[in-house]
Amino acid sequence: MSDDTKPTGMKQGLVNYGDAGFSLFLRKAFIKAMGYSDDALERPIVGITNTYSGYNACHRTVPDLIDAIRRGVLLAGGIPVDFPIVSIHESFSAPTSMFLRNLMAIDTEELVRAQPMDAVVLIGGCDKTVPALLMGAASAGRPAILEVTGPMMTGFFKGERLGACTDCRRMWGMHRAGELDADEIAAAGDKLMPTAGTCMVMGTASTMALMAEALGMMLPGGAAIPAVQADRLRHAEATGARAVAMAKEGLTPDKIMTPAAFANAFKMLLATGGSTNGLVHMTAIAGRLGIEVDLDALDKLSDRIPVLVDLKPSGQHYMEDLNNAGGAAPILRAIRDDLDLDCMTVSGRTLGQEIDAAPADWGQQVVRPRDNPIFPKGGIAVLKGTLAPNGAIIKQSAAAAHLMRHSGRAVVFEDLEDLANRLDDPDLDVAADDILVLKNAGPKGAPGMPESGYIPIPRKLAAQGVKDMLRLSDARMSGTAFGAIVLHISPEAADGGPLGLVQNGDRIELDVEARRLDLMVDPAELERRRKSWSAPAHPGQERGYLKLYLDEVTQAEDGADFRFLTPNRTGAKTP
Ligand code: FES
Repeated sequence: MSDDTKPTGMKQGLVNYGDAGFSLFLRKAFIKAMGYSDDALERPIVGITNTYSGYNACHRTVPDLIDAIRRGVLLAGGIPVDFPIVSIHESFSAPTSMFLRNLMAIDTEELVRAQPMDAVVLIGGCDKTVPALLMGAASAGRPAILEVTGPMMTGFFKGERLGACTDCRRMWGMHRAGELDADEIAAAGDKLMPTAGTCMVMGTASTMALMAEALGMMLPGGAAIPAVQADRLRHAEATGARAVAMAKEGLTPDKIMTPAAFANAFKMLLATGGSTNGLVHMTAIAGRLGIEVDLDALDKLSDRIPVLVDLKPSGQHYMEDLNNAGGAAPILRAIRDDLDLDCMTVSGRTLGQEIDAAPADWGQQVVRPRDNPIFPKGGIAVLKGTLAPNGAIIKQSAAAAHLMRHSGRAVVFEDLEDLANRLDDPDLDVAADDILVLKNAGPKGAPGMPESGYIPIPRKLAAQGVKDMLRLSDARMSGTAFGAIVLHISPEAADGGPLGLVQNGDRIELDVEARRLDLMVDPAELERRRKSWSAPAHPGQERGYLKLYLDEVTQAEDGADFRFLTPNRTGAKTP
């Protein structure tokens, strides 16, 4: 229950002029210029984060969602107040959206804390927005509930069904291999994102939405309803109404986002074959509550939870198909025995109660039964070894099986610029069984740990029909990508990790079954190389947000959050 002695509504968080009565008088005088009555200003205030931006097509429907949430708040007797915060879209955030995620989290935390509100509805959707909002809300400590914009509908090109961005990459690959000419690839570009909403494959946005629902931070069904369907508005209305109740109950994020709830979210990640980004982001959110993610425990969990959701890129379907199949409910039901059903959710009911209340399964083809999975083990394997002392990951469900145990010669690219300059050079010394190694694309190296881990197949090999190669980096990868790709190598090259010492021709061994990733170079030779190594420099690194970022960002296994934003660990671990 809420603390009755704490000021609420307009009376909380007053600017201090030495006279609290005057502060409240002045605040009310200003807000009355918005046309509110005294009666309205006495009601519980529900803030709504307005993440609309002209750059963010994934958030095109945010104004409609705000209308629906406002309706829900008013119907429940509250007063809705929307306010703008940072909006981040994947394709419009240089050097990378991940560089700005922590900025959005700071913005969320500070504006939720600074402004008078008894609860907040967080509107997110595009990849980094949901983690940023949940990180900020976890730190702000006010009752918070998430509403996502929802996935796009699929499009068609020459009769073929398309989904962003798995098919963006696939079709660009066909263009690179000469199978689609310039006119055809341009025409396909008109069809890949046919509606508002987030990418409709199991990319980061879909993964985070499903994990957030399993975490308990979103009302049931919210993860999969398409952005342009009327159900999405009804869900938003219900979210607004529920926020008013949460304000009265004092249902704060720490009561929902417990270690057991994070474990539920990770089980959802594995069952969906979701984006590897889900791991980094959930680690950062948990870190805001002092909870540590145990990578070894996650890896063991991965052995137990199979991939059940038949969505691209691991499978065949799209998010609207998952919605038609029942959304998150059939997935939660399939892994029910592995979940902690007592976890509280934003609905005020436990996860178990919500699963029981969801419509019964009907004959559907998208969520497989446990005895007939898409992939027998969870999608993500955690690797360690001389090349990744603090860990690395591979999404084995989206990779060519024959490369899961592979030894080869390193073909090294020093950074993203070097990669762009040389990858398609006809004289590049590379063969299909070589291992492409990208350095300096981690949190500090790029900076911002871009989704560059999906290194394209060199053009001359693609033209020969090579579809997959082993590729390694300290970068992240879009959940929409496919391939034998080792990511999040830690420590990253730019932080002095062994990855920074790899040279052309070095032998590297990957053994996913043994969870090993090793650089087969004599330690004395590595020490010799280390003496001439230096960290990369970035233009403008002496000032501003870039300086803050480079000084404070943590490595992938700590969520790439800022050190000063994470409280001391409580000793609690998840999953
Ligand atoms: Fe926004 Fe994919 S670009 S979700």
